[in-house]
Amino acid sequence: MIPKDTVAKILDAAEIIDVVSDFVALKKRGANYLGLCPFHNEKGPSFTVSPAKGIFKCFGCGKSGTPVNFIMEHEGLSYPEALRFLARKYHIKIEEIEQTADEIKEQNAKESMMLLSAYAQQQFTKNLLETEEGKRIALSYFKERGFSVSTIERFQLGYSLENRKAFSDQALKDGYLIEYLVKTGLTIEKEGRYFDRFAARVIFPILNISGRPIAFGGRILTNDKKLAKYLNSPESEIYHKSNVLYGLYQAKKSIVEQNNCYLVEGYTDVISLSQAGIENVVASAGTSLTVDQIRLIRRFTSLITVMYDGDAAGIKASFRGINLILAEGLQVKVLLFPNGEDPDSFSRKHSSDHIQTFLQEQVTDFISFKTKLLLDESKNDPIAKAQLIHEIIESISQIPDVIARSLYIKECSRLMQVEEQMLIQVLNKALWKQKSKDLKESEGHTDVAAFEPIVTLQNSQDQKYLELDLMEQEAEIIRLLLNYGNHEVDYKEESEGQEVNFIRMHLASFICGHLSQNGIEMENQSFATIYNTYFQKMEEFGTIPDIQEFISHDNEEIRNAVTEALVEPYQLSPNWKSRFKITPREKDTDLLKVAETAIDRLKQKHVIKHIHSLYEKIKTCTDEHKLEDLMIDLKKYQESKDHFFRETGTIISH
Ligand code: CTP
Ligand code: MN
Repeated sequence: MIPKDTVAKILDAAEIIDVVSDFVALKKRGANYLGLCPFHNEKGPSFTVSPAKGIFKCFGCGKSGTPVNFIMEHEGLSYPEALRFLARKYHIKIEEIEQTADEIKEQNAKESMMLLSAYAQQQFTKNLLETEEGKRIALSYFKERGFSVSTIERFQLGYSLENRKAFSDQALKDGYLIEYLVKTGLTIEKEGRYFDRFAARVIFPILNISGRPIAFGGRILTNDKKLAKYLNSPESEIYHKSNVLYGLYQAKKSIVEQNNCYLVEGYTDVISLSQAGIENVVASAGTSLTVDQIRLIRRFTSLITVMYDGDAAGIKASFRGINLILAEGLQVKVLLFPNGEDPDSFSRKHSSDHIQTFLQEQVTDFISFKTKLLLDESKNDPIAKAQLIHEIIESISQIPDVIARSLYIKECSRLMQVEEQMLIQVLNKALWKQKSKDLKESEGHTDVAAFEPIVTLQNSQDQKYLELDLMEQEAEIIRLLLNYGNHEVDYKEESEGQEVNFIRMHLASFICGHLSQNGIEMENQSFATIYNTYFQKMEEFGTIPDIQEFISHDNEEIRNAVTEALVEPYQLSPNWKSRFKITPREKDTDLLKVAETAIDRLKQKHVIKHIHSLYEKIKTCTDEHKLEDLMIDLKKYQESKDHFFRETGTIISH
């Protein structure tokens, strides 16, 4: 048990921002901090931390609590275990009150395995630094590899003795249970006899994100081809290799600072780069990159730079990984090492400065990388080139962000010398294919708003339909104005934190007020004349104009438009007109609703029209700065379109 005053000391030391920052990159927003929630999968931040209140809360999944709650949830620990965890972090010593046998038994299996792993790591390090055998065989090997003493410490490297029972025997003697020795894979059981898995190997401990050892990698020291060069701990209750990244614990601070995470293949690549001063580096040791690993990185940065050694087969196999990263909404860059070099061998050969310069100069965007690589292969073969285009578009189609996608399409068009319009067609096809696959998988539960293919107007026919749509909405507004403009409605004015106010006004004031507020003007000539005259008179005389004036307008087109609007009055409830004076409020609300919908639809059409015209401009834009402005504009309009979608629940076509 932990004494009360120690508990108080721990709670005092555990500052919420400090605790959470070990696992999530936080950005200051006003009095609070924001980040991506570690407890559910999200692309936009809804995880909020309040330093003043000392709590966190996720508005996405609802999880909330104190620093201790955070650790309990994140590390899967009980309350006392979380306290011990924080005590370790803040170097607070716990003078344990004697635990009873029952209490020890109750400690859960996971925590027991963690404690055993921590013990094993310490034993292995002791072997390396303090035994004659370790110094002679293992320490000299690491030194030969160029690992410094501080690197060995930073990565907690170790050595497992040649005697195949040394570790297991010692652990049993020190009170660790055989059950957990076998479960963690440190000990192998064979016909009732026990052996050390890692005997005669140097040890690379694999730490979880909070720095606790959960598994080990062991490398042989001989050139014996019959033995596996590397052995790894098996999957266990505490080690799921698909959601662990080697080196992340050591790298995460630097990843946040650099806003970039280098991804390499193995232990030695991580260690050598880190020693050379490139500390923001991790490896997906033992598996090809998984979605969980990418999401782990996404907590700290939005950019992954994948490092490859120059072997083409390996590079091609990794394209899958690139697509996975893109699909998670992260940016990908690529770095290719000279033939025959891997990040480890390269960083051992060159100075820190040289490596830095190399990384800066050689880094390329994934699409140029992929294009150039495959273009070399396809040369002048048109079929191979077509295949290549499909491969690249496949990657681009993974990107969730519509603007990023269209920028990549532009880049691809330039590199491949293929018309952008054609690439867009291929992309749209890939997107729909992807979407129908998603639909099948989720049985209809797709986030429609998240799916946004690039659609451009293919021909003047589409353009015509859009104009017709717009005109129809304008006609609706005119119809409402002429028929019901002088009816009074109670407009509900809601302002935050205040009482709800009903303002009585004419429907015409409501409609015209909203349209002019949004800067919307009629595009159809007749409608524009009617609307503008109506609006002017209203402003001038402060009354609703008499529609007789419009019915007898001397322009025939306008007369026609007006009569059309009047003979097809909007269908409201029967007898509505005659009962106007005693109309219950409900009916008023109906009319108001009809008008609101009409205004919203007209606004939508304007937004869509604007989006189309932006696409047209983007397609032909050659000035990079101007392009960026257009893109920002586009994003704004896309967002407002999405907003409409959510508010009205209608799918906006085009
Ligand atoms: N690796 C592995 N399992 C293997 C081989 C390699 O997990 N059987 C991983 C290791 O993480 C290693 C990285 O791939 O750090 C690089 O492989 P390699 O260069 O073969 O390992 P080194 O230990 O660097 O061997 P060498 O000294 O021969 O280069
Ligand atoms: Mn190597």
